[in-house]
This record gives sequence, C-alpha cells and structure tokens, in this order.
Amino acid sequence: MNPIQSLLLALPPETAHSFAIASLSAAGVLPGSITPLAGAQRSFLGNVLQNPVGLAAGLDKNAEAVLGLARCGFGFVEVGTVTPLAQPGNPKPRLFRLPEHRALINRMGFNNHGMEAMAAKLHQVRVGGRLKDTLLGVNLGKNKNTPNEEAAADYIKGMECLHSYADYFTINLSSPNTPGLRQLQHGEPLKELLGTVKERQLALASQGSGAPLLLKVAPDLSQEEVEQIAEQVTACEFDGVIATNTTLSRETVAGHKYAEEAGGLSGDPLTGRSAEVVAQFRQALPKSMTIVGVGGISSGEDAQTILNAGADALQIYTSFIYQGTKIVRNIVESIR
Ligand SMILES: Cc1cc2nc3c(=O)[nH]c(=O)nc-3n(C[C@H](O)[C@H](O)[C@H](O)COP(=O)(O)O)c2cc1C
Repeated sequence: MNPIQSLLLALPPETAHSFAIASLSAAGVLPGSITPLAGAQRSFLGNVLQNPVGLAAGLDKNAEAVLGLARCGFGFVEVGTVTPLAQPGNPKPRLFRLPEHRALINRMGFNNHGMEAMAAKLHQVRVGGRLKDTLLGVNLGKNKNTPNEEAAADYIKGMECLHSYADYFTINLSSPNTPGLRQLQHGEPLKELLGTVKERQLALASQGSGAPLLLKVAPDLSQEEVEQIAEQVTACEFDGVIATNTTLSRETVAGHKYAEEAGGLSGDPLTGRSAEVVAQFRQALPKSMTIVGVGGISSGEDAQTILNAGADALQIYTSFIYQGTKIVRNIVESIR
C-alpha cells in the first residue's frame, strides 16, 4: 500500500473522503488533456468506451473532482447522486469501514449541494475541453422531503438542469438511505415513474440532447422482482440497468462490530450477489440493452466474473477506497 493510501485509511472515513476529493480535485488542475487508459474498447450507449471500468456513483456527489478522477484512467465517471435541492444527508457518523471484509457500510442519505451547483461544476469541465473520451454519467435522485408520488418531478428537474453535460443519466431508485425510495422499484409506481421520465427524455432528445437512461437497482430483489423490473425498463424504452447498489443484507459480515449499523453494505461481501443479479437481468433483458455491473469488484478476477455474468461495463467504488488509484489500471489490464 502506498503512503497516501495508508494515511487515508488511518483517518476517520469521512475525513479521508473529503481529503481524497480535495486531492483529486487538485490533480485535475494540472494542465493537459485527460484520456482514459487504453483497454477493451466497446460501444456504450451510443458512444465509444475506451475501457469498460467506471467509477460508481456516490464518491463524487457534487462533481468536484471529475478531471482528477478521469486522470486515474477510468473509461467513465459517474457523478451524484444529485438531488434538485441541496440537502445535508443523515447525521454523522454515517460511514463505517469493515477492513476485515474489504467492505463499507454507509447511510449517507444523498448529502449533496444540489443540481444547480453540479451544473456549474460540469459547465467548467465541459468548457475546459480537457476531458477527452472519458464518458460522464450523472446519477439523479429525489430530495428526502419529496413524497414518492411526486418523485418523477425531481428526476425530471435533474434531467432538465443537467442534460447538456451528461453522456447518460442514471435514475437511482435503489439507495437504502432515503426512506421509501426502494418502493419505487416496484409495480405501478415504477411504471409511472419510468414512463414520465422517458417522455421527458424524448422531448429533450427532440431538442438535440436526450441523454440515454439507465435504472440503478438494488441487489435485494427476488427473481420475480428482477423480471418485473426488466419488463418495465424494456417497455419504457430505457437503455439499460446498473446492477447493483449496496445491500441491506448482513449475512456475509455477521458478528462484525459494525454489522448492525443501518445502511447499505458494499465491497467484497457483495460480489456474489451482484454477479447473480447481473446474470438475472441479462437473462430477462433484450440483448441490445446495456448492463453496468457493480458491487464488490476488487480484482481482475471479480471483473471477469461480472463480465461473464453478462455485464457490458463495470463500476467500482469500495475497492477504489481500499486499494487506491492503482486498482483501475489493474482491472483494465487484466481484462484487456
Ligand atoms: C459511501 C458510499 C456512498 C454511495 N453513494 C451512492 C450514491 O449517492 N448513489 C448511488 O447510486 N450509489 C451510491 N453508492 C453505491 C455505489 O455506487 C455502488 O453501487 C456500491 O457501493 C457497490 O459497489 P462497490 O462494492 O464497488 O462499492 C455509494 C456507496 C458508498 C460506499
């Protein structure tokens, strides 16, 4: 482990996070254009992905370090979750390390500066013109105080504000830390929400910038629920899914001192489950639809497992925290 990585892991988790974002943001200021690592190139949502390894949502919630993160070599970087209005998230402590499991538990609760602040950041990135070929995803959420019946309006506000900066949007209905959010993954509420969002995307597309749409799903779904979600995503002409978000299950970390902390578990304990969910969606979705696999990818072997399960591209978060920037190159090179 390099000294910076050791230092970060010695700090309390949120302090380390703020320090990492500040450092990555500073790294972005260095001059020159920024390109992804060369890897197994593929087409992705109407664009070319230089390598299939992306940064998952939640690390750069406010798009403060896009250039520095892109410098790490990712094929794509997803920012957010961003909500229409700024909100503080849950009280601290809300992020816990379980190093024995190379895992994290978080209940951040969509702490973010709001969509207007993100638009200003992304505007700087785009006008700067230094981001060459790294694709940029924007992950959208709803404010905690917005009732589920009005959730679609929050996602639409996000799209309207940010569509000119995003290569794709992720509609996030799977955070376990916004009360009731995951209920929107099912039945009539899902159908209505996806339909309304798609309608707005088509209207934006007719004006020249309707970014593709992915739905981010939880790992805590039955086979039947996966099939129902796949049916709606297809019917509403979404472009694909991101599987998965963090899990509520504690089976794999039972007995750990933080195991009973509320929130979502990520990292190594999730690999098997995220591979299963990716495989279930691959089975249930038309071949043409994109699947981004995420959850517990911490080596080239894990990456290959998720690709074999049917993912078209990958994202990482927790392994980036534990292993630092070198994990990006390790994975890209191992699956070239
Ligand atoms: C501290 C933390 C914050 C997160 N915040 C978000 C978020 O805002 N939006 C989101 O869609 N996913 C969020 N996630 C989930 C990750 O994007 C990812 O889906 C999950 O952690 C599984 O991948 P991993 O095992 O590689 O970490 C967060 C994860 C962590 C650990």
